[in-house]
Amino acid sequence: MTETQQELRQRQAQFAKELYGDDIGAKSGLSALLSKNNSAQQEAVAKYLRHWDGKTDEEAEQRRLDDYNEATHSYYNVVTDFYEYGWGSSFHFSRFYPGESFSASVARHEHYLAYKAGIKEGDLVLDVGCGIGGPAREICTFTGANIIGLNNNDYQLAKAKYYARKANLDKKLDFVKGDFMKMEFEPNTFDKVYAIEATCHAPKLEGVYGEIYKVLKPGGVFAVYEWVMTDNYDETNPEHRKIAYEIELGDGIPKMFPADVAREALRNVGFEVLEEKDLADNEDKVPWYYPLSGEWKYVQTIGDLATFFRTSYLGRKVTTTMVTVMEKIGIAPKGSRDVTLALEEAAVGLVAGGKSKLFTPMMLFVARKPEEN
Ligand SMILES: C[S@@+](CC[C@H](N)C(=O)[O-])C[C@H]1O[C@@H](n2cnc3c(N)ncnc32)[C@H](O)[C@@H]1O
Repeated sequence: MTETQQELRQRQAQFAKELYGDDIGAKSGLSALLSKNNSAQQEAVAKYLRHWDGKTDEEAEQRRLDDYNEATHSYYNVVTDFYEYGWGSSFHFSRFYPGESFSASVARHEHYLAYKAGIKEGDLVLDVGCGIGGPAREICTFTGANIIGLNNNDYQLAKAKYYARKANLDKKLDFVKGDFMKMEFEPNTFDKVYAIEATCHAPKLEGVYGEIYKVLKPGGVFAVYEWVMTDNYDETNPEHRKIAYEIELGDGIPKMFPADVAREALRNVGFEVLEEKDLADNEDKVPWYYPLSGEWKYVQTIGDLATFFRTSYLGRKVTTTMVTVMEKIGIAPKGSRDVTLALEEAAVGLVAGGKSKLFTPMMLFVARKPEEN
């Protein structure tokens, strides 16, 4: 690790402590948000807004690509509590079958990826961009594999470790700090690697896929749910680009790439692509984006009403108003409202992208590192 990387790492860890105090990890959702240190939160929001300032010109895009690590780190410092409050501990979308509950659908989406990667008991598996460890806990319980979660966000790592201990899975799971563009694992370490809606934060897909290729054992499999613009997307069409911008700015992504860029990147670093399928391109009665689109007709179970209300348009308005009032009277740290507004922009872009089929959060790629000759 270079000195600059080491300094960045120390600075980020120190900042997470200032922001969340010593019991970092133990609180969740709104109670974690309300207990954040006010001045550190203001700094976090300022850092976030510096990168995600609504500017869409080439210079602004290049700035985010160059500073992808800090940009994404600051994004997750400010949104993690909101994600957990609205979505639970797996930060990804999923498909819904009629009658299926939100949590069952999220777990099934994770099981499916584990199945596609061929993860089995005793495998050593890497989860790239592991969030607060929801998928790792589920896939570990489902398969019996040992999983290491990699993440560059200290707050999320502390939470992932805390929840693993609580679930009595800390012997099978480990969570480590690192940038997926510069992995520090020995080459040929992992039997399988998976990534769920995380590698879209890379400034260049060859970078992260190349690192995954390096740490996989020969013959090992990588399975990913990638966020990409579909083949219907035309970068020169202003309406299309607007949707991509909303997704980039609201979700902390330096640049949304089209599906063929992802496919080529996998091949360019040496992978053999075994399977490719846009799981959102289907005839499902309940669309993947329904928790954000506010259509009550899609709610599948009574138990999901509370989750759906929090993530729906109306629920998001209620949260924004509540957070605005709490910020005004000094209960919520300053800048919290700005964050809810950015998340609103993200939701609008995601639903528009989903409805028009210009965007998918679940482009499945299954790829193998060839056996050595
Ligand atoms: C949308 S979240 C998905 C988290 C998790 N896969 C899940 O499904 O719950 C994206 C994750 O990627 C992580 N991430 C983004 N950029 C990263 C980087 N350069 N190195 C490591 N992790 C990164 C974020 O911190 C976050 O945990």
